[in-house]
Amino acid sequence: MIDQRRRRMLDEMGLTVWRSRARAGQPVSETAPAEPAGDWSSLIASIEACQRCPLHATRQRAVPGVGDPAARLMIIGEAPGAEEDRRGEPFVGRAGQLLDAMLAAMGLDRQQDVFITNVVKSRPPENRDPTAEEIAACRPWLDAQLALIQPGVILAVGKIAAQSLTGSRQTMGRLRDQWHRFGDTGIPLRATYHPAYLLRRPDAKARAWADLVAVRRALRGASA
Ligand code: URA
Repeated sequence: MIDQRRRRMLDEMGLTVWRSRARAGQPVSETAPAEPAGDWSSLIASIEACQRCPLHATRQRAVPGVGDPAARLMIIGEAPGAEEDRRGEPFVGRAGQLLDAMLAAMGLDRQQDVFITNVVKSRPPENRDPTAEEIAACRPWLDAQLALIQPGVILAVGKIAAQSLTGSRQTMGRLRDQWHRFGDTGIPLRATYHPAYLLRRPDAKARAWADLVAVRRALRGASA
C-alpha cells in the first residue's frame, strides 16, 4: 500500500482512471475522473496494458522502466527503440550500454541505484521522434511513477525529454549546465545529452560528464 502522502500527491495531480480500465484491456480516457493510484506493481501492469495512444498497435511491448522504485535518481529518456521494444527494458541498445558506462563512472548501477524510464513508454515506428500528442498521452504514467518514486534528482537525457520535462523549447546547449525544477514538485532536474548523440559526437562527452558530476554532487548533498 502506498502511504497517505503519496496518495494525496497522486490525487492532486488529477491522475485519470487507469488501474481498473487498463487491467481490463480497455483504453483509458483522459477525461475520466481521478482515481487514487494503487501500488507500484499495478502501475506497471497498467502501463504494460496501456492503449492511450496509437503506439500500442505497433509496439511489441510497452517499456515501463527499470531499476529501483525507491531510487533517489530518476533518469528519463525519450522513447524505446527497436531493442528496447523487443526486450521490454529501456536503454539496452548501444546508447544504453553507454548510459550504463556513464552510470558506472558515477558509481551507480542501473538495477540498484537508479530508476530509468522514458517520457513515452511505447516505441514510435521507425524510431521517429514521439509526437506531442503521444508524449501528452503518456504523461500520466510518468507523473504516477514520479509520485511513487519521489526521486531526489531527475536527469533528463536528450532534447525531447529535457524540453518535455522543463516545458521549454530551448536547445540542449541552453538547457544543460543549470538546475531546473520539475513542475510543481520542485524536484531538481538536470538535462544532458542523449547517449545516442554522444555516440555520434564524442566531443560532447566532457560536457555530459560535467552534468553528471553536478548530479552526483546534488545526490551526495541530499544525503549529507
Ligand atoms: N533511447 C531512449 O531515449 N530511450 C530508450 O529506452 C532507448 C533509447
